[in-house]
Amino acid sequence: MKQINLGATSLQIPAMALGIMRMEAKSPADAAKAIDAAYENGINFIDSADIYGQGKSEEVFSKALKLSSTKREELFIQSKAGIIIDPARSHGSFVFGSRYEFTKQHILEAVDGILSRMKTDYLDSFLLHRPDPLMDLEGIREAFDILQASGKVRFFGVSNFNPQQFAMVQNIVSQRLMFNQLQFGLMHTGMIDFGIHTNINDKDGTNHDGEILEYCRQHHVTIQAWSPFQYGNFEGTFIDNPDYPELNATLAKLANKYNVGKNAIAAAWILKHPAQIQMVMGTMNPQHIADSAKGADIRLTNQEWYNLYLDAGHQLP
Ligand SMILES: NC(=O)c1ccc[n+]([C@@H]2O[C@H](COP(=O)([O-])OP(=O)(O)OC[C@H]3O[C@@H](n4cnc5c(N)ncnc54)[C@H](OP(=O)(O)O)[C@@H]3O)[C@@H](O)[C@H]2O)c1
Repeated sequence: MKQINLGATSLQIPAMALGIMRMEAKSPADAAKAIDAAYENGINFIDSADIYGQGKSEEVFSKALKLSSTKREELFIQSKAGIIIDPARSHGSFVFGSRYEFTKQHILEAVDGILSRMKTDYLDSFLLHRPDPLMDLEGIREAFDILQASGKVRFFGVSNFNPQQFAMVQNIVSQRLMFNQLQFGLMHTGMIDFGIHTNINDKDGTNHDGEILEYCRQHHVTIQAWSPFQYGNFEGTFIDNPDYPELNATLAKLANKYNVGKNAIAAAWILKHPAQIQMVMGTMNPQHIADSAKGADIRLTNQEWYNLYLDAGHQLP
């Protein structure tokens, strides 16, 4: 498995992580197979959040880890918090928030809840899940200091933050923020569209993300690409989806050339970006995990990378 730097450090982490958002729907035995398949393929990085399955994903994970041949110490476990869910607005894996909350008390309680559900004494990394317009910066600073001093959290980061939001938190906390988890994949390319369409008066020239990709590269923040094989706001996969015939034809052609599956090509497209992105895959299918992991060894040519971008429906000015 290709290794990348953990944020601004020289510590090494795998270029792929296993996200457990969908683990709530699995039995501990099946979840254990997913964890072991990831580990056997060099993916020892787990991404969670307290809201996944409203806590159930983390409960299944701890039961699964007992059944698996992988040990806690062999894993880098990350979780996120700050979204307060409203069961009435949620269905299945798709939970919706009634508010965000980044107070000192909520952060501390949320981490304790995660540790208790995951049955571990510490998180390798903890992220603020989404930017909260009401966030209490002093409270975040105090909470991070307590979590670090107590040994409950080793590294910190954020998710879905734009550059100004990132800088605002970074300027107040004592720890260097290592991660920014953002949606990125062939069918979710806003972070690069704007850069390509700078100074062009078309829809891709709209700056939704505040040049977050360039910001993270300059500040050595690891971008974690969530929902890499999904279109829309993780509405479904584009792989083998008849609504995306041109993209699937190009994926199939390259899959044939490199002797892998389409998921490996879609993964290789993300990992080719020089920002050293870490891809967070969400499949719970051991075969899909193993097949996707092969993408880390594929070096697409620049033209192949552009062909995939164009056949996914994006345009060059
Ligand atoms: N920070 C955030 O705001 C945020 C938001 C959403 C997600 N996330 C993180 O991102 C992780 C991944 O999200 P995701 O599950 O939406 O990502 P994904 O890897 O893009 O999608 C996984 C889904 O695609 C399906 N799939 C169908 N064909 C596939 C194939 N050939 N290969 C691989 N998968 C295939 C999988 O089904 P099978 O299981 O049947 O393979 C699974 O349902 C989550 O677990 C979570 O950790 C973060």
